[in-house]
Amino acid sequence: MASQPQPAVFLPFHRALIEEEEKRAVLDVLESGWLTTGPRVREFESAFAAYVGARHAVAVNSCTAALHLALAAFDIAEDDEVILPAMTFAATGEVILYRHARPVLVDCLPNSFHVDPCAIAKAITPRTRAIIPVHYAGLACDMDTVLQIALAHGLKVIEDAAHSFPTQYNGKMVGTLGNVTCFSFYATKTLTTGEGGMITTEDAELAERMRILSLHGISRHAWNRYAASGSWKYEILEPGYKYNLTDLQAALGLAQLAKSTSMRDSRARVAHEYTRLLSPLDAFELPPSSPGSSHAWHLYVIQVNPRALRIHRDRVIEELKLRGVGTSVHFIPLHLHPLYQNQLGYRTGQFPNAEERFDRCLSLPIYPHMTQEEIELVAEALRDVAQHFRA
Ligand SMILES: Cc1ncc(COP(=O)(O)O)c(C=O)c1O
Repeated sequence: MASQPQPAVFLPFHRALIEEEEKRAVLDVLESGWLTTGPRVREFESAFAAYVGARHAVAVNSCTAALHLALAAFDIAEDDEVILPAMTFAATGEVILYRHARPVLVDCLPNSFHVDPCAIAKAITPRTRAIIPVHYAGLACDMDTVLQIALAHGLKVIEDAAHSFPTQYNGKMVGTLGNVTCFSFYATKTLTTGEGGMITTEDAELAERMRILSLHGISRHAWNRYAASGSWKYEILEPGYKYNLTDLQAALGLAQLAKSTSMRDSRARVAHEYTRLLSPLDAFELPPSSPGSSHAWHLYVIQVNPRALRIHRDRVIEELKLRGVGTSVHFIPLHLHPLYQNQLGYRTGQFPNAEERFDRCLSLPIYPHMTQEEIELVAEALRDVAQHFRA
């Protein structure tokens, strides 16, 4: 078989922005001799809470852990139902299964990646305990309506904000809207600690319970039991998890947090350049503008327009790769996966808006330090594909 020609340069879908500050901060922790949860984690929690304007922040080792702890702290259990969008990543649904509860999937709004609040309202039963809205790509979903529905039915709102730091919704920061908000600091996210996550809440008791659950369910001050100020004594209060963040990760997080506003502005610059360069092409639909909200631009997601292009999204991805551009797809809706079909009875065709979005979407490279040449390389590759495969 003839091998495909390799592009001269390849622009990856993602590149983390790690500079001298991050390296210095991690080295300082290494030199301090205290590697795991400690003073840097506490500092990171305070700084993060202050940035989003939340009363409490609990650092954990992933957004998945954050979501799981939130459900545990609300005692979501067997036979409970939790509503979430089909258009999300594995993590949002699997944490509900960890609790032996039922994930109740709902569709997106038409022509949107965001959850349809009417579909949430229709999915409520006497067993519903919570809603997990997802702030897809870096833009908040219709939280006013979600919160109204939750209030009317006495439901908890646990926000999946894995994509949405920093994001504003109608003048308020994501992290201060629902009962609990869960953030991700995974390698590709807008703020990274390699792996990591943060939970924010206004509820002191809930924060305390999640903190205890994040470290084996053992009493509050146990994290420093090897320090001079600590004590060897500890009490196990309930079965917990090993979800704590380390000082090494927190040091990285603090350095990233210090530049998060400028990193967000740089991502917005890339997004605006994409929009400027790509809007003349009818082969692709571009992300919506967001009046009243600010966008974290974790993802820049375009849709292939089948009326203007005779190849499917999958082939577009291959053609872009040949032209040196890495892309990704967010997401294969949950109900299309074997777990959800074989074990939970969901079927293809059930959430047509999510399926329609999935079938045509692809995410372009976007990171703060993308150069103008790199942005133009992506735009030029898309222009070339659009011309070559015009319908
Ligand atoms: C929507 C969504 N929720 C949750 C997660 C899980 O985040 P983490 O990898 O920090 O557990 C992700 C990860 O990509 C995500 O995209």
